[in-house]
Amino acid sequence: MLRTALCERLGIDLPIVQAPMGGAVGPDIAVAAAEAGGLGMLALAWSSPDAVRAAIRATKRRTERPFGVNLVLDAPQDERLAIVLDEGVRIVSLFWGDPSPYIARIHDRGGLVMHTVASAAEAKRSVAAGADVIVAQGWEAGGHVWGEVATLALVPAVVDAVAPVPVIAAGGIADGRGLAAVLALGASAAWIGTRFLATVEAESHPRYRELLLAAAETATVHTELFDIGWPDAPHRVLRNATYDAWVAAGRPSAGGRPGEGEAIGRYPDGRPILRYDVESPKANTRGDLDAMCLYAGQGVGLVRDVRPAGDVVRSIAAEAAAVLARLGRG
Ligand SMILES: Cc1cc2nc3c(=O)[nH]c(=O)nc-3n(C[C@H](O)[C@H](O)[C@H](O)COP(=O)(O)O)c2cc1C
Repeated sequence: MLRTALCERLGIDLPIVQAPMGGAVGPDIAVAAAEAGGLGMLALAWSSPDAVRAAIRATKRRTERPFGVNLVLDAPQDERLAIVLDEGVRIVSLFWGDPSPYIARIHDRGGLVMHTVASAAEAKRSVAAGADVIVAQGWEAGGHVWGEVATLALVPAVVDAVAPVPVIAAGGIADGRGLAAVLALGASAAWIGTRFLATVEAESHPRYRELLLAAAETATVHTELFDIGWPDAPHRVLRNATYDAWVAAGRPSAGGRPGEGEAIGRYPDGRPILRYDVESPKANTRGDLDAMCLYAGQGVGLVRDVRPAGDVVRSIAAEAAAVLARLGRG
């Protein structure tokens, strides 16, 4: 009932994509999502060439199902893309900018290009440049947020602009009701991030997961505050003490913010984590975790338990099927 033409094209059973989330997902979650019938995604935009190769090989060893790799275009990705294609990955997702310099190279190797956009006009440009699948990211989304239009308004506008090119909806989808809703809007699948942060296989720190479970739909802010490592890039995070202290100080610009330059933790390799750093806490991060950058979308209010990622895929699919059956009877 849920299978869409895009499922056929990607070779998956369910229209559910485990969204790429830099620093929070790896082979474990991609394998779990893929084995459950969804599309697993690796986020390798900042990984070293060796780490890119290793993550892809680790995923391939454990699943024969399709999975994809995501690269963020704020910096050149030629070297990583060459490795991704050489390793046999044929689903490539591009985010944060113009995909056109990369598309021919992916197509030449028989690959499929997914491009994340935030408006109908951008979606049209992307399809004209050769993108095969459009991901429409609404501003409810967790992590870095490309645009400012909410999912409910964005998805049908993008669907109309690029039909028959398939559109995947991202931002604020955390359960089967959300999946059913975006299918009703004309999307071919849901691209789900925040819900997967609270899974057994995610690389997020247990304290970060606790904060996600406790958060209501009102708990996030859209800001550019956490900018060390990636400046001028809007993102959505849980509102925390770092954000509140900055607001109390009158929202000063970078250089004059409270606690600027202060180390609030350490990575396992001993590097300090500075206040306003872009990296979110992983399992082995130490320090004042609550004050770090805690990416989350508005759908966080629907995240109430930590479960295996495969269960999340299956339960979202089952709930969406039940919702659609109920609506069909109405
Ligand atoms: C912790 C985190 C990290 C993310 N990293 C990436 C990334 O590396 N590449 C990317 O294209 N999108 C990234 N995103 C955005 C997601 O792919 C997706 O668009 C978003 O999570 C969807 O909204 P939702 O969180 O409401 O489900 C990230 C999101 C989160 C929450």
